[in-house]
Amino acid sequence: MRVAVLNGPNLNLLGTREPHVYGTETLAEIEHTVRDRARASKVEIDWFQTNDEGQFVDRVQALRGRADGALINAAAFTHTSWAVRDALLAVQVPFVEVHLSNIFAREPARRQSLLADLAVAIVAGFGARGYILALDGLVAHLQARAG
Ligand code: DQA
Repeated sequence: MRVAVLNGPNLNLLGTREPHVYGTETLAEIEHTVRDRARASKVEIDWFQTNDEGQFVDRVQALRGRADGALINAAAFTHTSWAVRDALLAVQVPFVEVHLSNIFAREPARRQSLLADLAVAIVAGFGARGYILALDGLVAHLQARAG
């Protein structure tokens, strides 16, 4: 099973970026934990981060045929990007939307996700642990679908 993990803008700054909101773990540390967990479940991980919307769209487009599912923390693109939404609609790859913070308990503009209704599920508010919870949930979902 192949799972892509797509991370959007400013997530490269995790660890030092607003630690009271996003925690103190770096993105590299989160990647390490996710890879460990995936290995235990025999899942292959394709990990990606960009600050660029075009590159993010390109990676979503590339999911088709290359990933069985995805974990997507589109960061600020979640709230703004019709291009990311359209790409997800085009590829139809099952994904879990992940946020470190509980976006529904934050500023009004962050309470809206342009991606949420396309997702299998949303995990928000558990910090870095959310990536593991989302991976476990996605793998169970894909296994159930495969029968
Ligand atoms: C975020 C929440 C977004 O609103 C924000 O723009 C981010 C991170 C999260 O993981 O909590 O950059 O996606």
